[in-house]
Amino acid sequence: MLAGRTIHLCVTGGIAAYKAAELVRLLIKAGAQVQVAMTENAQNFIGALTFQALTQRPVYTLTLDPTEELEIGHIAFAQEADAIIVAPATANIIAKAAMGIADDLVSTILSATDRPVIVAPAMNTAMYNQETVQDNLASLTRRGWAIVPPGDGQLACGAVGPGRLAEHSAIIDTLTACLTRSMPLLGKHVLVTAGPTRERLDPVRFLSNPSTGRMGLAVAEAAALAGAQVTLIHGPIALDIPGSIQTVPVESTREMYDAVVSRTQSVDALFMSAAVADWTPESVSATKQKKNEGHLTVKFVRTPDILADVGRARTGQMPILVGWAAETESVVETARAKLVKKQVDMIVGNDVSQDGCGFGTETNAVVLVEADAVTPLALQPKAAIGRHLITWLVAKLAVPA
Ligand code: CTP
Repeated sequence: MLAGRTIHLCVTGGIAAYKAAELVRLLIKAGAQVQVAMTENAQNFIGALTFQALTQRPVYTLTLDPTEELEIGHIAFAQEADAIIVAPATANIIAKAAMGIADDLVSTILSATDRPVIVAPAMNTAMYNQETVQDNLASLTRRGWAIVPPGDGQLACGAVGPGRLAEHSAIIDTLTACLTRSMPLLGKHVLVTAGPTRERLDPVRFLSNPSTGRMGLAVAEAAALAGAQVTLIHGPIALDIPGSIQTVPVESTREMYDAVVSRTQSVDALFMSAAVADWTPESVSATKQKKNEGHLTVKFVRTPDILADVGRARTGQMPILVGWAAETESVVETARAKLVKKQVDMIVGNDVSQDGCGFGTETNAVVLVEADAVTPLALQPKAAIGRHLITWLVAKLAVPA
């Protein structure tokens, strides 16, 4: 369950901070990739170097340190984990998180995350029993965060009662339960295509388009975060692809066709976001075409329509098929026609003539066209559209065919 998962651990300033080192070791042993952030106070109890040695990664300690921000940035730290653990969690960080205060690295991360958060409080018994602490914990529970109650016993300060950091096994069990809940696509395989294809004219020239693969990668990332096994078949692109996503680089439409068709039997969904070339030169010159006077005439032939072929070949409702339609006018009508022609479940219609939409942009505005519904999604980051599409897929898979 933890293998290949990215867990971000926030360590705050209590004596139990030293126990976080063992937690890191156990998470790594279970196959997780762990990234640690520490408050300033935590560093008085245990050195960042300990965590750096255990995780083999830099430890984040400052909110706006230029080097740290370059490497990952506090917003990425907040949003790119499968889950965040706060252990030990002091009364102070619990209060800040409950109130939305963001005045240091860890509180900023917690105020910016939409990932599952597991909070393991550790503090003096009297402090833990305070109404304010209990109210704050209740508020975090209402928000959907998981609290791992502290253990009972003799504390470092001599007091006896609740306040000792929960056992590592309890924290890891809670983490596993949260991941299972937040991963509705566990056990599912999602295939995504992204980027352009290249159709070669000769060894130095090709026909292509400006697709960067961002939309497809956003869908792939959202599917992976939801727990799916994800295969991304992509044309030539220059994006950082998380290690949790299996990649299959291809160049031509024919290569993409073979890579997709050989997998569709074993996947639950196909998101065909690649900007596939519709035409390819009838013949490819084995040597570079030298220029001469007059015109160059190239005869193009149609490429196979990958999505239409998969739509035609599927029996029943599986795999679920989603195509894209990049248009400059009549988006809904064209998307509807493609929905029927390609026999798919949804077409993501995209008016590429609008500002901030289409090839190479970080944002997009689309309209989701299904047989019985048309859902416009206003201009927003492609990552948000990716999450929306995966929420749609989860609902679709939940309905019996
Ligand atoms: N597609 C495909 N194989 C192709 C071409 C496109 O699978 N050879 C997929 C795209 O990945 C996308 C959808 O089909 O999901 C786009 O539909 P299409 O009708 O090909 O769009 P256009 O190329 O824009 O076609 P037209 O010029 O007819 O509008």
